[in-house]
Amino acid sequence: MRPSVAALVASLTIASAKSLADVCTLSNIKSALPSNGTLLGINVIPSATTVGTVYNASMGSSDTFNYCNVTVTYTHPGKGDSVIIEYAFPEPSDFKNRFYVAGGFGYSLSTTSTGGLSYGAVGGATSAGYDALDGVTVDEVFLYANGSINWDATYMFAYQALGEMTQLGKYITSDFYGTDSKIFTYYEGCSDGGRQGMSQIQRWGAEYDGVITGAPAFRYGQQQVNHLFSAVVEQTKGYYPPPCEMEKIVNATIKACDPLDGRIDGVISRSDLCKLNFNLTSIIGENYYCAAEVSTSLGFNFGKRSIVKRSDGTSTSYQPAQSGSVTAEGVAVAQAIYDGLFDSNGDRAYLSYQIGASFTDAETEYNNNTKKWGLDIPSTGGEFVAMFVELQDLSNLANLDGVTYDTLVGWMNDAMIRYMDSLQTTIPDLTTFQSNGGKLLHYHGESDPSVPTASSIHYWQSVRSIMYPGLSEKESLAKLRDWYQLYLIPGAAHCATNSLQPGPYPEDNMETMINWVENGIKPSRLNATVSSGDYSGEVQRLCQWPSRPLWNSNSTFDCVADRKSYESWIYEFPAFKVPVY
Ligand SMILES: *[C@@H]1O[C@H](CO)[C@@H](O)[C@H](O)[C@H]1NC(C)=O
Ligand SMILES: *[C@@H]1O[C@H](CO)[C@@H](O)[C@H](O)[C@H]1NC(C)=O
Ligand SMILES: *[C@@H]1O[C@H](CO)[C@@H](O)[C@H](O)[C@H]1NC(C)=O
Ligand SMILES: *[C@@H]1O[C@H](CO)[C@@H](O)[C@H](O)[C@H]1NC(C)=O
Ligand SMILES: *[C@@H]1O[C@H](CO)[C@@H](O)[C@H](O)[C@H]1NC(C)=O
Ligand SMILES: *[C@@H]1O[C@H](CO)[C@@H](O)[C@H](O)[C@H]1NC(C)=O
Ligand SMILES: *[C@@H]1O[C@H](CO)[C@@H](O)[C@H](O)[C@H]1NC(C)=O
Ligand SMILES: *[C@@H]1O[C@H](CO)[C@@H](O)[C@H](O)[C@H]1NC(C)=O
Ligand SMILES: *[C@@H]1O[C@H](CO)[C@@H](O)[C@H](O)[C@H]1NC(C)=O
Repeated sequence: MRPSVAALVASLTIASAKSLADVCTLSNIKSALPSNGTLLGINVIPSATTVGTVYNASMGSSDTFNYCNVTVTYTHPGKGDSVIIEYAFPEPSDFKNRFYVAGGFGYSLSTTSTGGLSYGAVGGATSAGYDALDGVTVDEVFLYANGSINWDATYMFAYQALGEMTQLGKYITSDFYGTDSKIFTYYEGCSDGGRQGMSQIQRWGAEYDGVITGAPAFRYGQQQVNHLFSAVVEQTKGYYPPPCEMEKIVNATIKACDPLDGRIDGVISRSDLCKLNFNLTSIIGENYYCAAEVSTSLGFNFGKRSIVKRSDGTSTSYQPAQSGSVTAEGVAVAQAIYDGLFDSNGDRAYLSYQIGASFTDAETEYNNNTKKWGLDIPSTGGEFVAMFVELQDLSNLANLDGVTYDTLVGWMNDAMIRYMDSLQTTIPDLTTFQSNGGKLLHYHGESDPSVPTASSIHYWQSVRSIMYPGLSEKESLAKLRDWYQLYLIPGAAHCATNSLQPGPYPEDNMETMINWVENGIKPSRLNATVSSGDYSGEVQRLCQWPSRPLWNSNSTFDCVADRKSYESWIYEFPAFKVPVY
């Protein structure tokens, strides 16, 4: 018998009037769980479910939230494993038919389930089967005691755990609130969190409506090994510059290239014009000075193992006062780093940081006994090669003896092939995501010293050429913009503002994305706010790639097309036989 309209309306009214206490019960959750066989490869273990109401939780802002904290446990049939997911369900009156996934950082997944509450969204965080929910990073579980690779953890970290969390979470969400409406599903993350977001649209494209990825640490084989490139440049050239000399080169480059974009504001908004018009050799002879300091830098967003290495006292972080003038050797090191990696045949293997970016990977180490600067192997690259390439249970390489540019290319190739279907994360065909209406907002700091900015552009190019072969550049650009937009953030560092360039940074990406997905308001620019310097408080409406900013006064800029600049961002990698997307 079909219920009457009046009965339906009554039940809807009752549903929307439900309180958190009404829905946040073990029986409501259990009845919302999918039975075995519903979601392929996911068997929920209902008896392990936990539930608890949380009132007046403050989330960093002045707003407080009530939510239902649920843990769900599932297994992959036949594997005997156990994956725990924590979900946070907003109070029914706050729920806006949304699901929200946050990305993690280097080697880690997000441990926070509550990030969606301020958007009226259900959120989740997963153990990925290896206690990631407790903060365990994948490099801690990557090698079994017998020395073989833990592929289950690798695939779960690479893409599977988040995809399953989203699929299962959306299923439960509909039943939990008793709704048939579409659950708008968002993703937001930067660095490895950016890579994780790309993994989701490449593998689980039908699940997501709006995905925001910053500076994705994808193309894993190349990206992670590339962290060693600067040190190998120094070793090859036999010159280990004092960090202050490299910082001076950066500062002088910023000063020289700042005006090329039409406004003097301490920011290189056009690193392409800097690359095309500025010659680093003009800095030779400039004086530098830095006071003595004890550095507490932990490196860039990497797993706990590398942080332990840097703070356990085995690598000294003391820097004496440094003064001198910039040498030809220092500039040659800087130029080689910005040029990027070539093999001994002269074939390009990878791209590099934009001119004006800091030389984080090039940092040398001071020896108190010899009073000289020497090799400091960045643990970001060193751990990756030691562990993920050479399968040694080490958090860094002991030395770079005998390591050449060709060695780096070989490591990149080995890692790319080994992790091609897991961590490489560069599948360029996003048809499933696109055809289901998915929208992608991709951004990258133009002075990122950890993940090269051009690395994002290369992927954007790959998607364009793979998805729209045969279309003219103009036609494919127009099609891509409807669902995939890329923005470079002038002067910005890695997933953050840059202490050396007071540029803008986007702060309301989720608002922009929600408007695009739910209200059909397609952005054409991206708002970003300057938070320091003379222009603090200014909102810049950033240009969408491939158009580039050019200030026409101290207060306004145009987004211009510039063929020569554009081409300075385009790379091919003939050092590899396999296409590098
Ligand atoms: C589903 O399968 C899991 C194990 O694979 C089992 O623990 C659970 O009880 C099953 N659920 C039902 C409802 O049978
Ligand atoms: C939450 O805060 C509100 C407003 O301050 C208050 O009325 C309510 O009693 C609080 N609830 C709990 C469970 O503390
Ligand atoms: C949710 O509950 C689990 C299990 O009791 C607890 O460990 C976790 O801290 C809770 N999380 C939140 C965000 O309330
Ligand atoms: C290594 O250890 C893992 C985990 O215990 C096990 O699954 C795997 O079979 C072992 N491999 C070999 C070659 O013994
Ligand atoms: C570089 O510029 C920053 C300010 O932007 C300053 O704090 C730092 O001392 C400068 N470093 C050198 C080596 O000149
Ligand atoms: C930069 O200047 C040096 C010295 O004048 C010159 O040898 C070099 O070719 C120049 N580089 C470029 C890219 O023009
Ligand atoms: C190096 O020498 C300086 C000055 O002599 C001293 O202050 C510093 O503690 C020493 N650092 C280490 C790591 O020994
Ligand atoms: C972007 O900034 C402009 C100008 O300040 C403002 O009118 C607009 O509302 C902003 N858009 C978003 C999505 O914040
Ligand atoms: C623009 O700013 C620069 C430096 O910040 C200043 O010297 C110049 O006078 C300004 N131009 C105008 C037209 O205000």
